Amino acid sequence: MKECKIIIMGFGSVGQGIANAISLKKEMINEKYGVQLKVVAVADSSTSAICQDGLDEKLLIDIKKSEGKLSAYPDCGNNMSGIDVLDAVEYDLLMEATPTNIETAEPALSLTLKAFEQGKDVVTSNKGHLAIKFSEVIQAAEENGVEFKYEASVGGAMPIINFTRETLSSCGIKSIIGILNGTTNYILSRMTSEGSSYDITLRESQELGIAETDPTQDVEGIDAACKTVILANSLLGIDATYDDVTVEGISSITSQAIDLAKKDGYLIKLIAEVSQDNLKVSPRLVKKGSSYDVNGTLNMATIKTDLAGDITVMGLGAGSLETASAMLTDVISILKNKY
Ligand code: HSE
Repeated sequence: MKECKIIIMGFGSVGQGIANAISLKKEMINEKYGVQLKVVAVADSSTSAICQDGLDEKLLIDIKKSEGKLSAYPDCGNNMSGIDVLDAVEYDLLMEATPTNIETAEPALSLTLKAFEQGKDVVTSNKGHLAIKFSEVIQAAEENGVEFKYEASVGGAMPIINFTRETLSSCGIKSIIGILNGTTNYILSRMTSEGSSYDITLRESQELGIAETDPTQDVEGIDAACKTVILANSLLGIDATYDDVTVEGISSITSQAIDLAKKDGYLIKLIAEVSQDNLKVSPRLVKKGSSYDVNGTLNMATIKTDLAGDITVMGLGAGSLETASAMLTDVISILKNKY
């Protein structure tokens, strides 16, 4: 039987979602694609659990929730983390879900490049390395002849990168405009529909596990700007980095501004625009009832194409299992290509 040995790096909301998704779907994957997924190592920021015979996904989640660290995993827990784990374990594929770091892109950048050097495929939900060094990372994957997939980095479970590349492969993409951050959409929706306060809804989004580890990345538009860069590079062929995006967040949007807009039939949304002339994230007025009128953690994007006209996609833009679903789909596509 074929086997795919997996390392999960990062064991917060997304990392735990990956373990959950694997546990729920590994039997289906085995039956349908003839490959047994085996989680051989999981690392959080300072500890890990390692077992070449495979770890129990549910137990990993239980241990992390109850003990706060993976070193408590019976017999397999230890104090190794990061790059050291990649050196210590025999594996085939890295699922990288460490927190996004927009300053240095670490630890995602080093982990990813190291895995490529080791000839391993990588699936990521991380945005930092893609937003600052997109072409460098893609080139490194190509040079090492490995697969690198990052659907989950934009829009969580909303299909956009693979969808546009594969299903819209006959089309040129002129622009993409949409809502690419679940946390701010959740905050703005709650402020609009229930008059909830900015601070309370921000705290709620942290409790729901949808906000970034540092939530200023969400509310200041940084997260949406990273996604803008990823779409610009991957779908429009624009060689952009984070510094090329004009960014304004939602932290100065008041309840009064939201009420005023509402009276005139408008909503305030954090909109990202990706085109050859414009890479921009900013709060904008959109018509109530338009395709931008999506609530909660939903994301949406209208893809303007040359042949097919406008195509709009929508889906849950954040969340543990939702984001993990996109990563597992990327894993399956690697299995189909390579195994
Ligand atoms: N914090 C992000 C969001 C998570 O709210 O959209 C998904 O990238």
